[in-house]
Amino acid sequence: MSEKTQRAVFATRIGAVATTVGSAVGLGNIWRFPYEAGTHGGGAFMLFYILFIFILGVPVLCAEYMLGRGTRKNVFGAYRVTQPKGSQWHLAGVTGILASILILSFYSVVAGWTMEYFFESVSGSLTNNPTQDLHERFAEFSGGTWRPLMWTWIFLLTNFVVLLRGVTKGIEKVSNFLTPMLFVLLVIFCINSLTMSGAKEGLEFLFRPDFSKIDSRVLLAAMGQAFFSLSLGLGCMLTYGSYFSPRTRVVRTAVTTAGLDTLVAILSGVIIFPAVFTFGLSPSAGPTLVFEVLPSIFNNLAFGRVWSSLFFFLLILASLTSTISMSEISIAFFVEQLNMKRSVATIVNTSIAFVLGSLCALSFGPLSDFTIFGMTVFNLFDYVSSNILLPFGGLVVSFFVGWKINSKFIENELTNYGHDSCHVKGALTICLRYVAPIGISLIFLNTIGII
Ligand code: TRP
Repeated sequence: MSEKTQRAVFATRIGAVATTVGSAVGLGNIWRFPYEAGTHGGGAFMLFYILFIFILGVPVLCAEYMLGRGTRKNVFGAYRVTQPKGSQWHLAGVTGILASILILSFYSVVAGWTMEYFFESVSGSLTNNPTQDLHERFAEFSGGTWRPLMWTWIFLLTNFVVLLRGVTKGIEKVSNFLTPMLFVLLVIFCINSLTMSGAKEGLEFLFRPDFSKIDSRVLLAAMGQAFFSLSLGLGCMLTYGSYFSPRTRVVRTAVTTAGLDTLVAILSGVIIFPAVFTFGLSPSAGPTLVFEVLPSIFNNLAFGRVWSSLFFFLLILASLTSTISMSEISIAFFVEQLNMKRSVATIVNTSIAFVLGSLCALSFGPLSDFTIFGMTVFNLFDYVSSNILLPFGGLVVSFFVGWKINSKFIENELTNYGHDSCHVKGALTICLRYVAPIGISLIFLNTIGII
Protein backbone atom coordinates (compact mmCIF):
# COMPACT_ATOMS: atom_id res chain seq x y z
CA MET A 1 0.00 0.00 0.00
CA SER A 2 1.52 3.31 -0.94
CA GLU A 3 1.33 6.36 1.31
CA LYS A 4 -0.46 9.06 -0.67
CA THR A 5 0.44 11.88 1.61
CA GLN A 6 3.51 12.83 3.55
CA ARG A 7 2.44 12.42 7.16
CA ALA A 8 3.07 15.33 9.47
CA VAL A 9 4.67 14.83 12.87
CA PHE A 10 3.89 17.03 15.83
CA ALA A 11 6.94 19.17 16.36
CA THR A 12 7.17 19.06 20.14
CA ARG A 13 6.12 16.90 23.06
CA ILE A 14 3.96 19.72 24.37
CA GLY A 15 2.41 19.87 20.91
CA ALA A 16 1.31 16.23 21.18
CA VAL A 17 -0.28 16.68 24.61
CA ALA A 18 -1.83 20.04 23.75
CA THR A 19 -3.40 18.65 20.62
CA THR A 20 -4.87 15.53 22.16
CA VAL A 21 -6.15 17.61 25.07
CA GLY A 22 -7.54 20.01 22.48
CA SER A 23 -9.48 17.13 20.97
CA ALA A 24 -10.63 15.76 24.31
CA VAL A 25 -11.64 19.03 25.95
CA GLY A 26 -14.70 20.53 24.36
CA LEU A 27 -18.46 20.59 24.59
CA GLY A 28 -18.24 17.04 25.93
CA ASN A 29 -16.85 18.38 29.18
CA ILE A 30 -18.65 21.66 29.47
CA TRP A 31 -22.02 20.89 27.92
CA ARG A 32 -22.47 17.11 27.83
CA PHE A 33 -21.00 16.13 31.18
CA PRO A 34 -23.28 18.35 33.32
CA TYR A 35 -26.36 17.41 31.32
CA GLU A 36 -25.67 13.67 31.53
CA ALA A 37 -24.79 13.91 35.22
CA GLY A 38 -27.97 15.93 35.80
CA THR A 39 -30.26 13.42 34.11
CA HIS A 40 -28.59 10.39 35.71
CA GLY A 41 -28.71 11.27 39.35
CA GLY A 42 -25.54 13.32 39.87
CA GLY A 43 -23.21 11.54 42.29
CA ALA A 44 -24.04 8.01 41.11
CA PHE A 45 -23.16 8.99 37.55
CA MET A 46 -20.01 10.82 38.66
CA LEU A 47 -18.69 7.81 40.56
CA PHE A 48 -18.92 5.49 37.58
CA TYR A 49 -17.76 8.13 35.14
CA ILE A 50 -14.47 8.55 37.04
CA LEU A 51 -14.10 4.80 37.47
CA PHE A 52 -14.63 4.17 33.75
CA ILE A 53 -12.22 6.92 32.74
CA PHE A 54 -9.44 5.14 34.59
CA ILE A 55 -10.18 1.46 34.04
CA LEU A 56 -11.55 1.70 30.50
CA GLY A 57 -10.63 5.14 29.15
CA VAL A 58 -6.90 5.27 29.88
CA PRO A 59 -6.16 1.72 28.62
CA VAL A 60 -8.18 2.22 25.43
CA LEU A 61 -6.46 5.59 24.94
CA CYS A 62 -3.06 3.86 25.22
CA ALA A 63 -4.22 1.20 22.75
CA GLU A 64 -5.27 3.84 20.21
CA TYR A 65 -2.04 5.81 20.60
CA MET A 66 0.08 2.66 20.20
CA LEU A 67 -1.76 1.42 17.16
CA GLY A 68 -1.62 4.86 15.54
CA ARG A 69 1.98 5.66 16.25
CA GLY A 70 3.24 2.18 15.51
CA THR A 71 1.63 2.07 12.07
CA ARG A 72 1.46 5.79 11.17
CA LYS A 73 -1.85 5.15 9.44
CA ASN A 74 -5.54 6.05 9.67
CA VAL A 75 -7.86 3.68 11.48
CA PHE A 76 -8.45 1.34 8.51
CA GLY A 77 -4.83 1.24 7.48
CA ALA A 78 -3.67 0.66 11.05
CA TYR A 79 -5.78 -2.50 11.39
CA ARG A 80 -4.83 -3.69 7.92
CA VAL A 81 -1.09 -3.68 8.45
CA THR A 82 -1.19 -5.25 11.92
CA GLN A 83 -4.02 -7.79 11.71
CA PRO A 84 -3.35 -11.49 11.15
CA LYS A 85 -3.47 -12.42 7.44
CA GLY A 86 -6.96 -12.84 6.08
CA SER A 87 -8.83 -11.32 9.03
CA GLN A 88 -11.20 -8.40 8.72
CA TRP A 89 -10.55 -6.27 11.79
CA HIS A 90 -10.30 -3.13 9.73
CA LEU A 91 -14.06 -3.30 9.14
CA ALA A 92 -14.41 -2.03 12.71
CA GLY A 93 -13.18 1.23 11.27
CA VAL A 94 -16.56 1.59 9.56
CA THR A 95 -18.31 2.18 12.89
CA GLY A 96 -15.68 4.82 13.61
CA ILE A 97 -16.35 6.68 10.39
CA LEU A 98 -20.11 6.46 10.88
CA ALA A 99 -19.89 7.62 14.50
CA SER A 100 -17.56 10.48 13.64
CA ILE A 101 -20.04 11.91 11.15
CA LEU A 102 -23.03 11.46 13.47
CA ILE A 103 -21.16 13.19 16.28
CA LEU A 104 -19.98 16.01 14.03
CA SER A 105 -23.62 16.59 13.06
CA PHE A 106 -25.12 17.10 16.50
CA TYR A 107 -21.98 18.63 17.96
CA SER A 108 -22.11 21.40 15.35
CA VAL A 109 -25.61 22.30 16.51
CA VAL A 110 -24.43 22.82 20.08
CA ALA A 111 -21.34 24.66 18.86
CA GLY A 112 -23.78 26.82 16.89
CA TRP A 113 -25.69 27.63 20.08
CA THR A 114 -22.36 28.65 21.57
CA MET A 115 -21.80 31.03 18.65
CA GLU A 116 -25.24 32.56 19.14
CA TYR A 117 -24.43 33.10 22.82
CA PHE A 118 -21.08 34.62 21.98
CA PHE A 119 -22.70 37.24 19.77
CA GLU A 120 -25.45 37.90 22.28
CA SER A 121 -22.80 38.33 24.97
CA VAL A 122 -20.83 40.81 22.94
CA SER A 123 -23.94 42.81 22.11
CA GLY A 124 -24.96 42.79 25.78
CA SER A 125 -28.36 41.21 25.21
CA LEU A 126 -27.48 37.92 26.93
CA THR A 127 -26.88 39.30 30.39
CA ASN A 128 -29.46 42.05 30.49
CA ASN A 129 -32.46 39.97 31.47
CA PRO A 130 -34.07 38.74 34.65
CA THR A 131 -33.23 35.10 35.40
CA GLN A 132 -36.62 33.62 34.54
CA ASP A 133 -36.57 35.23 31.07
CA LEU A 134 -33.16 33.75 30.29
CA HIS A 135 -34.70 30.36 30.49
CA GLU A 136 -37.46 31.07 28.02
CA ARG A 137 -35.18 32.94 25.67
CA PHE A 138 -33.11 29.84 25.08
CA ALA A 139 -36.14 27.66 24.46
CA GLU A 140 -37.38 30.22 21.98
CA PHE A 141 -34.06 30.40 20.17
CA SER A 142 -33.30 26.65 20.03
CA GLY A 143 -36.89 25.90 19.07
CA GLY A 144 -36.74 28.23 16.08
CA THR A 145 -35.90 27.32 12.51
CA TRP A 146 -33.49 29.68 10.82
CA ARG A 147 -31.21 30.82 13.60
CA PRO A 148 -30.21 27.34 14.83
CA LEU A 149 -29.77 26.27 11.20
CA MET A 150 -27.71 29.28 10.31
CA TRP A 151 -25.34 28.85 13.26
CA THR A 152 -24.90 25.15 12.56
CA TRP A 153 -23.92 25.97 9.00
CA ILE A 154 -21.60 28.79 10.03
CA PHE A 155 -19.86 26.52 12.48
CA LEU A 156 -19.45 23.74 9.90
CA LEU A 157 -18.03 26.22 7.41
CA THR A 158 -15.53 27.47 9.99
CA ASN A 159 -14.53 23.88 10.69
CA PHE A 160 -14.14 23.32 6.95
CA VAL A 161 -11.84 26.30 6.48
CA VAL A 162 -9.59 25.30 9.38
CA LEU A 163 -9.39 21.73 8.08
CA LEU A 164 -8.19 22.81 4.68
CA ARG A 165 -5.14 24.37 6.26
CA GLY A 166 -3.66 20.99 7.25
CA VAL A 167 -2.73 19.22 10.47
CA THR A 168 0.13 20.73 12.38
CA LYS A 169 -0.16 24.36 11.37
CA GLY A 170 -3.81 25.05 11.92
CA ILE A 171 -4.57 22.80 14.85
CA GLU A 172 -1.42 23.03 16.90
CA LYS A 173 -1.25 26.79 16.88
CA VAL A 174 -4.81 27.29 18.03
CA SER A 175 -4.91 24.64 20.71
CA ASN A 176 -1.56 25.48 22.29
CA PHE A 177 -2.69 28.77 23.73
CA LEU A 178 -6.39 28.13 23.98
CA THR A 179 -6.78 25.34 26.50
CA PRO A 180 -4.83 27.01 29.36
CA MET A 181 -6.90 30.16 28.98
CA LEU A 182 -10.18 28.30 29.10
CA PHE A 183 -8.95 26.49 32.17
CA VAL A 184 -8.19 29.72 34.03
CA LEU A 185 -11.65 31.07 33.24
CA LEU A 186 -13.28 27.89 34.48
CA VAL A 187 -11.39 28.11 37.78
CA ILE A 188 -12.60 31.68 38.26
CA PHE A 189 -16.24 30.73 37.54
CA CYS A 190 -15.88 27.79 39.85
CA ILE A 191 -14.87 30.02 42.76
CA ASN A 192 -17.82 32.26 41.98
CA SER A 193 -20.26 29.32 42.01
CA LEU A 194 -18.90 28.11 45.33
CA THR A 195 -20.02 31.37 46.93
CA MET A 196 -23.64 30.91 45.81
CA SER A 197 -26.41 30.05 48.24
CA GLY A 198 -27.10 26.74 46.47
CA ALA A 199 -23.43 25.66 46.56
CA LYS A 200 -23.84 23.02 49.25
CA GLU A 201 -26.85 21.45 47.61
CA GLY A 202 -25.16 21.54 44.20
CA LEU A 203 -21.99 19.90 45.42
CA GLU A 204 -23.91 17.23 47.27
CA PHE A 205 -25.90 16.46 44.17
CA LEU A 206 -22.72 16.08 42.13
CA PHE A 207 -20.45 14.30 44.59
CA ARG A 208 -22.62 12.31 46.97
CA PRO A 209 -23.65 9.10 45.21
CA ASP A 210 -27.17 7.96 45.84
CA PHE A 211 -26.68 4.22 45.40
CA SER A 212 -30.36 3.61 44.89
CA LYS A 213 -30.09 5.54 41.61
CA ILE A 214 -27.58 3.14 40.07
CA ASP A 215 -29.08 1.11 37.26
CA SER A 216 -28.12 -0.02 33.78
CA ARG A 217 -29.04 3.35 32.30
CA VAL A 218 -26.61 5.13 34.60
CA LEU A 219 -23.80 2.67 33.86
CA LEU A 220 -24.29 2.92 30.10
CA ALA A 221 -24.47 6.71 30.21
CA ALA A 222 -21.34 6.98 32.38
CA MET A 223 -19.44 4.67 30.05
CA GLY A 224 -20.64 6.58 26.97
CA GLN A 225 -19.60 9.87 28.52
CA ALA A 226 -16.14 8.51 29.39
CA PHE A 227 -15.59 7.49 25.77
CA PHE A 228 -17.10 10.66 24.36
CA SER A 229 -15.11 12.94 26.58
CA LEU A 230 -11.78 11.26 25.79
CA SER A 231 -12.57 11.19 22.03
CA LEU A 232 -12.23 7.41 22.12
CA GLY A 233 -13.61 4.53 20.15
CA LEU A 234 -13.68 5.82 16.62
CA GLY A 235 -9.99 6.03 15.88
CA CYS A 236 -9.69 9.72 16.58
CA MET A 237 -6.91 9.35 19.11
CA LEU A 238 -5.47 6.60 16.91
CA THR A 239 -5.17 9.09 14.05
CA TYR A 240 -3.59 11.67 16.37
CA GLY A 241 -1.24 9.00 17.70
CA SER A 242 -0.08 8.51 14.14
CA TYR A 243 1.25 12.06 14.21
CA PHE A 244 3.24 11.51 17.44
CA SER A 245 7.00 11.56 17.24
CA PRO A 246 8.94 8.36 18.07
CA ARG A 247 9.94 9.95 21.37
CA THR A 248 6.42 10.66 22.69
CA ARG A 249 5.74 8.61 25.84
CA VAL A 250 2.48 6.83 25.21
CA VAL A 251 1.29 6.03 28.74
CA ARG A 252 2.34 9.35 30.17
CA THR A 253 0.54 11.24 27.41
CA ALA A 254 -2.60 9.15 27.94
CA VAL A 255 -2.66 9.77 31.70
CA THR A 256 -2.07 13.50 31.23
CA THR A 257 -4.81 13.76 28.62
CA ALA A 258 -7.31 11.83 30.74
CA GLY A 259 -6.42 13.72 33.92
CA LEU A 260 -6.79 17.17 32.38
CA ASP A 261 -9.96 16.21 30.56
CA THR A 262 -11.58 14.89 33.72
CA LEU A 263 -10.54 17.96 35.67
CA VAL A 264 -12.27 20.21 33.14
CA ALA A 265 -15.46 18.15 33.35
CA ILE A 266 -15.46 18.32 37.14
CA LEU A 267 -14.87 22.07 37.08
CA SER A 268 -17.78 22.43 34.74
CA GLY A 269 -20.01 20.43 37.10
CA VAL A 270 -18.90 22.57 40.04
CA ILE A 271 -19.80 25.68 38.06
CA ILE A 272 -23.20 24.47 36.91
CA PHE A 273 -24.84 22.60 39.80
CA PRO A 274 -24.53 25.23 42.55
CA ALA A 275 -26.14 27.65 40.08
CA VAL A 276 -28.89 25.15 39.21
CA PHE A 277 -29.94 24.94 42.84
CA THR A 278 -29.44 28.64 43.54
CA PHE A 279 -31.71 29.70 40.67
CA GLY A 280 -34.24 26.94 41.26
CA LEU A 281 -33.72 25.19 37.90
CA SER A 282 -34.03 21.49 37.22
CA PRO A 283 -30.78 19.46 37.02
CA SER A 284 -32.40 17.05 34.58
CA ALA A 285 -33.26 19.56 31.87
CA GLY A 286 -31.27 17.55 29.29
CA PRO A 287 -29.18 18.94 26.41
CA THR A 288 -30.32 22.50 27.03
CA LEU A 289 -29.27 22.55 30.72
CA VAL A 290 -25.99 24.42 30.44
CA PHE A 291 -27.37 27.03 28.09
CA GLU A 292 -30.17 27.78 30.50
CA VAL A 293 -27.89 28.02 33.52
CA LEU A 294 -24.83 29.88 32.25
CA PRO A 295 -26.53 33.20 31.42
CA SER A 296 -27.87 33.41 34.98
CA ILE A 297 -24.34 32.92 36.27
CA PHE A 298 -22.96 35.69 34.07
CA ASN A 299 -25.91 37.89 34.86
CA ASN A 300 -24.95 37.86 38.51
CA LEU A 301 -21.26 38.45 37.94
CA ALA A 302 -19.55 41.85 37.90
CA PHE A 303 -18.55 42.57 34.27
CA GLY A 304 -20.70 39.63 33.25
CA ARG A 305 -20.74 40.75 29.65
CA VAL A 306 -16.94 40.61 29.41
CA TRP A 307 -16.69 37.22 31.13
CA SER A 308 -19.40 35.65 29.03
CA SER A 309 -17.99 36.99 25.75
CA LEU A 310 -14.58 35.62 26.59
CA PHE A 311 -15.97 32.31 27.80
CA PHE A 312 -18.13 31.62 24.76
CA PHE A 313 -15.32 32.66 22.45
CA LEU A 314 -12.98 30.13 24.07
CA LEU A 315 -15.70 27.50 24.03
CA ILE A 316 -16.15 27.99 20.28
CA LEU A 317 -12.43 27.44 19.80
CA ALA A 318 -12.46 24.39 22.11
CA SER A 319 -15.34 22.97 20.08
CA LEU A 320 -13.42 23.58 16.89
CA THR A 321 -10.35 21.67 18.06
CA SER A 322 -12.72 18.79 18.86
CA THR A 323 -14.62 18.85 15.58
CA ILE A 324 -11.36 19.11 13.69
CA SER A 325 -10.22 15.91 15.38
CA MET A 326 -13.41 14.00 14.57
CA SER A 327 -13.42 15.23 10.96
CA GLU A 328 -9.83 14.04 10.63
CA ILE A 329 -11.10 10.43 10.89
CA SER A 330 -13.17 10.39 7.77
CA ILE A 331 -10.85 12.73 5.90
CA ALA A 332 -7.77 10.58 6.60
CA PHE A 333 -9.81 7.57 5.49
CA PHE A 334 -11.05 9.18 2.27
CA VAL A 335 -7.54 10.39 1.43
CA GLU A 336 -5.49 7.36 2.33
CA GLN A 337 -7.85 4.54 1.42
CA LEU A 338 -10.00 6.01 -1.33
CA ASN A 339 -7.25 8.16 -2.84
CA MET A 340 -9.30 11.36 -2.71
CA LYS A 341 -7.64 14.75 -2.68
CA ARG A 342 -7.66 16.30 0.78
CA SER A 343 -9.80 19.19 -0.40
CA VAL A 344 -12.38 16.83 -1.95
CA ALA A 345 -12.40 14.66 1.18
CA THR A 346 -13.02 17.73 3.32
CA ILE A 347 -15.91 18.81 1.10
CA VAL A 348 -17.50 15.34 1.31
CA ASN A 349 -17.18 15.26 5.09
CA THR A 350 -18.64 18.75 5.52
CA SER A 351 -21.50 18.14 3.08
CA ILE A 352 -22.76 15.05 4.88
CA ALA A 353 -22.59 16.87 8.21
CA PHE A 354 -24.46 19.80 6.66
CA VAL A 355 -27.45 17.63 5.86
CA LEU A 356 -27.48 15.57 9.06
CA GLY A 357 -26.59 18.59 11.20
CA SER A 358 -29.58 20.47 9.80
CA LEU A 359 -31.90 17.68 10.95
CA CYS A 360 -30.35 17.88 14.41
CA ALA A 361 -30.65 21.67 14.50
CA LEU A 362 -34.38 21.39 13.86
CA SER A 363 -34.87 18.71 16.53
CA PHE A 364 -35.73 21.27 19.18
CA GLY A 365 -38.31 23.04 17.03
CA PRO A 366 -40.03 22.03 13.78
CA LEU A 367 -38.81 18.41 14.03
CA SER A 368 -39.33 17.98 17.77
CA ASP A 369 -42.24 15.60 17.15
CA PHE A 370 -40.35 13.55 14.61
CA THR A 371 -39.02 10.70 16.71
CA ILE A 372 -37.29 7.38 16.04
CA PHE A 373 -37.31 4.86 18.91
CA GLY A 374 -38.87 7.63 20.97
CA MET A 375 -35.93 9.98 20.40
CA THR A 376 -35.52 13.10 18.29
CA VAL A 377 -32.87 12.97 15.57
CA PHE A 378 -30.51 14.94 17.81
CA ASN A 379 -30.99 12.64 20.78
CA LEU A 380 -30.80 9.53 18.63
CA PHE A 381 -27.46 10.53 17.08
CA ASP A 382 -26.13 11.47 20.50
CA TYR A 383 -27.31 8.24 22.15
CA VAL A 384 -26.33 5.81 19.41
CA SER A 385 -22.89 7.24 18.79
CA SER A 386 -21.83 7.86 22.39
CA ASN A 387 -23.43 4.96 24.17
CA ILE A 388 -23.17 2.27 21.52
CA LEU A 389 -20.74 2.97 18.67
CA LEU A 390 -17.92 4.47 20.75
CA PRO A 391 -17.83 1.77 23.46
CA PHE A 392 -18.10 -0.84 20.70
CA GLY A 393 -15.09 0.71 18.96
CA GLY A 394 -13.27 0.71 22.30
CA LEU A 395 -14.10 -2.94 22.83
CA VAL A 396 -12.67 -3.85 19.43
CA VAL A 397 -9.50 -1.81 19.78
CA SER A 398 -8.72 -3.10 23.27
CA PHE A 399 -9.36 -6.71 22.28
CA PHE A 400 -7.30 -6.29 19.12
CA VAL A 401 -4.30 -4.70 20.82
CA GLY A 402 -4.61 -7.04 23.82
CA TRP A 403 -4.88 -10.31 21.93
CA LYS A 404 -4.12 -9.98 18.25
CA ILE A 405 -1.03 -7.83 17.99
CA ASN A 406 2.36 -9.33 18.64
CA SER A 407 3.78 -8.38 21.97
CA LYS A 408 7.00 -7.01 20.47
CA PHE A 409 4.94 -4.26 18.84
CA ILE A 410 3.47 -3.27 22.19
CA GLU A 411 6.83 -3.49 23.92
CA ASN A 412 8.35 -1.20 21.30
CA GLU A 413 5.56 1.32 21.55
CA LEU A 414 5.62 1.43 25.33
CA THR A 415 9.39 1.79 25.61
CA ASN A 416 9.99 3.80 22.44
CA TYR A 417 12.14 0.99 21.08
CA GLY A 418 14.01 0.42 24.31
CA HIS A 419 14.78 4.08 24.77
CA ASP A 420 12.55 4.56 27.84
CA SER A 421 11.43 2.25 30.61
CA CYS A 422 7.81 1.25 31.17
CA HIS A 423 6.56 -0.33 34.37
CA VAL A 424 2.90 -0.65 33.59
CA LYS A 425 2.99 -3.08 30.69
CA GLY A 426 1.53 -5.90 32.82
CA ALA A 427 -1.32 -3.83 34.22
CA LEU A 428 -2.08 -2.34 30.84
CA THR A 429 -2.16 -5.76 29.22
CA ILE A 430 -4.63 -7.03 31.83
CA CYS A 431 -6.87 -4.03 31.22
CA LEU A 432 -6.74 -4.45 27.45
CA ARG A 433 -7.19 -8.23 27.45
CA TYR A 434 -9.79 -8.62 30.19
CA VAL A 435 -11.06 -5.53 32.00
CA ALA A 436 -12.06 -3.44 28.99
CA PRO A 437 -13.57 -6.10 26.69
CA ILE A 438 -15.40 -7.88 29.50
CA GLY A 439 -16.46 -4.67 31.27
CA ILE A 440 -17.87 -3.08 28.11
CA SER A 441 -19.66 -6.31 27.11
CA LEU A 442 -21.23 -6.67 30.56
CA ILE A 443 -22.59 -3.14 30.45
CA PHE A 444 -24.05 -3.76 26.97
CA LEU A 445 -25.65 -7.01 28.07
CA ASN A 446 -26.99 -5.38 31.19
CA THR A 447 -28.55 -2.60 29.12
CA ILE A 448 -30.42 -4.94 26.83
CA GLY A 449 -31.58 -6.86 29.87
CA ILE A 450 -29.70 -10.13 29.35
CA ILE A 451 -27.90 -9.97 32.68
N1 TRP B 1 -14.05 14.67 23.27
C1 TRP B 1 -14.64 15.79 22.63
C2 TRP B 1 -15.39 16.60 23.68
O1 TRP B 1 -15.38 16.26 24.82
C3 TRP B 1 -15.53 15.40 21.49
C4 TRP B 1 -14.82 14.58 20.49
C5 TRP B 1 -13.81 14.98 19.68
C6 TRP B 1 -15.05 13.21 20.23
N2 TRP B 1 -13.40 13.93 18.93
C7 TRP B 1 -14.12 12.85 19.23
C8 TRP B 1 -15.93 12.30 20.76
C9 TRP B 1 -14.07 11.56 18.80
C10 TRP B 1 -15.88 11.01 20.30
C11 TRP B 1 -14.94 10.62 19.34
O2 TRP B 1 -15.98 17.57 23.37
